[in-house]
Amino acid sequence: MTAEYKVHGDVAVITMNNPPVNGLGLSTRQGITDGLAKAEGDPAVKAIVLTGAGKAFSGGADIREFGSPKALAEPNLLSVILAVENASKPVVAAIHSVAMGGGLELALGCHYRIAAPGTNVALPEVKLGLIPGAGGTQRLPRALGVEPALNMIVSGEAVKSEMLAQVPGQMLFNKLAASPDSLAEEALALAREMAAKHADGSALPKVRDLPCKHPKGDAYFQFARNMVKGMSKNFPAPAKCVDAVEAATKKKFDDGMTFEREIFINLMWTPECRALRHLFTAERAASKIPDVPEDTPKREIASVAVIGAGTMGGGISMNFLNAGIPVKILEMKQEALDRGIATIRKNYEAQVKKGKLKQDKYEQRMSLLSTTLSYDDIGSADLVIEAVFEDIGVKETVFKELDRVMKPGAILASNTSTLDVNAIANFTKRPQDVVGLHFFSPANVMKLLEVVRGDKTAKDVMATVMAVAKKIKKTAVVSGVCDGFIGNRMIEQYGRQGGFLLDEGCTPEQVDKAMEKFGMAMGPFRMGDLAGNDIGWAIRKRRYVEKPDMKYSKTADLLCEKGRFGQKTGAGWYDYVPGKRDAIPNAEVVKMIEDHRKSLGITPRKISDEEIVQRLIYALVNEAAHILEEGIANKASDIDVVYIFGYGFPIHRGGPMIYADTVGLFNVVQSMKRFAKNPLDDAKFWEPAPLLARLVAEGKTFN
Ligand code: NAI
Repeated sequence: MTAEYKVHGDVAVITMNNPPVNGLGLSTRQGITDGLAKAEGDPAVKAIVLTGAGKAFSGGADIREFGSPKALAEPNLLSVILAVENASKPVVAAIHSVAMGGGLELALGCHYRIAAPGTNVALPEVKLGLIPGAGGTQRLPRALGVEPALNMIVSGEAVKSEMLAQVPGQMLFNKLAASPDSLAEEALALAREMAAKHADGSALPKVRDLPCKHPKGDAYFQFARNMVKGMSKNFPAPAKCVDAVEAATKKKFDDGMTFEREIFINLMWTPECRALRHLFTAERAASKIPDVPEDTPKREIASVAVIGAGTMGGGISMNFLNAGIPVKILEMKQEALDRGIATIRKNYEAQVKKGKLKQDKYEQRMSLLSTTLSYDDIGSADLVIEAVFEDIGVKETVFKELDRVMKPGAILASNTSTLDVNAIANFTKRPQDVVGLHFFSPANVMKLLEVVRGDKTAKDVMATVMAVAKKIKKTAVVSGVCDGFIGNRMIEQYGRQGGFLLDEGCTPEQVDKAMEKFGMAMGPFRMGDLAGNDIGWAIRKRRYVEKPDMKYSKTADLLCEKGRFGQKTGAGWYDYVPGKRDAIPNAEVVKMIEDHRKSLGITPRKISDEEIVQRLIYALVNEAAHILEEGIANKASDIDVVYIFGYGFPIHRGGPMIYADTVGLFNVVQSMKRFAKNPLDDAKFWEPAPLLARLVAEGKTFN
């Protein structure tokens, strides 16, 4: 049982105890109703306190039960809340630390509520594409007032209890405890006081009986609806939050509850909700590595060295400074160091200017940063991350130096984006300590970190870097060693399709617009301009030698031959005005594409947005299926995490793999077969990856 029952004199205390956050799983729910029954049956008990052990009152539904029959088994949450509300003795919720989702809904079913200051209170269901489903949309407006309640429900954000207690006329908290430490005593006292008050048999107060009105309801809800529509165009849930709260003001309580339930169930089946719930679990699952148990001992990382103060080295360093970990940057020349440090300063100063960073925090961070030109100064660092030129010869020199100077047990990481991490590891006599840490640009902003596991990387190194990633607030995904790792290996196929589409009749703008309409943060050509078209050029030059059979459109090479590398040169697929990121279509580029098309004897055809999206996205999917089969990625959901956090894939679609599942893998393969018949495309590539073919044959999905 994950709820305890104890009697303190004339008050029964039911304590939810289901670590880490007292999730309302079946056994906890059962524990609460059992406790209520005991208290009801004991004539010595006059009142009941409901509280949570450890770090929360309750964080809401138990995510471990998601999708299992237990989640719905009786007593379900609605029944528990009803039992609390209908108890014949006063029930006082003693709320502390965290009261979220179902936890807050449960508290709202109690007759009285006392909260410790500092409690995070929220109805975060909207973040999973849902609305609160156990009365939250009906009770919170009654207890807190319509406007603050709607704000909380639509945003899903937590508000501190002491702020909520200041809302005029609020009935959410009958009392704010003096401190978290005094909460238990004060709750007992409140329970006794209420037992005395109702000793005459007077009715216990229920939130459901409170009035719920907005003086200018129609105008207010219209306004709220317009706001929400503008802010969340790809998600249905926020607008439904408005509908549900409006219902609280217009319908009888029980009818409002039915209305809420209907919306909740309908939302549950939307692709957006599925995508958000998928990502919620996928992100948590990404940190788990099948053969590295969670209790694997970790190395201590108290100091970091970074080799190279360029674009990546600077951004990488900032992550550690932000987390309070000292960083020493090594460069070849003082000028390079000065330039790197100046960029870091500029980035922080911009944050200070915007009010996002306090001056003293900025100074504190800079004080953790030091520089050197000598390898002999960095040997004591616990982790060293190399971010020098992408050249295997340079990497060899650097890693031999690192092997010479780093203390035993230090972790040696490379930020390489294309080179073989096993080869890099073998430049040292300690390949077990070498790992790839592939940050994305700008490294101080992008959440994704691909952790590249070499053949010999030790398990405790993996466990350590996954923990470090968490500390610097990155979402880490493990990739095996292959060209491009997970993300860039897939994007190469996506980019290749983009090139073919130009040859066949599209403009860069048409392709980008179609992909952006699908929801990508940027279409492939705008992305190329941002990342630098020269990077892809360098990769293709290598491919022409390594894989002469692989087919590429030549337009991107022609573009690079003109020096149009993208934003950094002010011109790429588009033109750019200094200081601005707007992509301005360029007639010469369009003409260059047309001329090239002519030279190939291709008659352009009109290509639909649907074909553009399918070819680019299914190219990702088919390559991902190879990646999964080869064991480069541990699970399909890891690939979704990579694309959501590193490549601007639309969140409401959940990532390429779950998107393919939603479309139906059978349908995906049917389209691929059609693309294979296009003589200007690459028929060989469109052969479904064996894993994909197998899943279709077995009627299964990736996730
Ligand atoms: P960058 O050219 O901006 O910076 C490289 C820096 O390393 C320069 O400041 C250079 O002076 C220094 N350097 C070169 N050789 C050195 C040596 N032997 N010892 C010490 N310092 C040395 O390059 P960037 O873009 O920062 O790339 C660095 C690494 O990060 C490369 O491996 C690249 O593939 C990888 N990467 C780059 C991404 C990007 O978007 N720029 C994204 C992810 C990874």
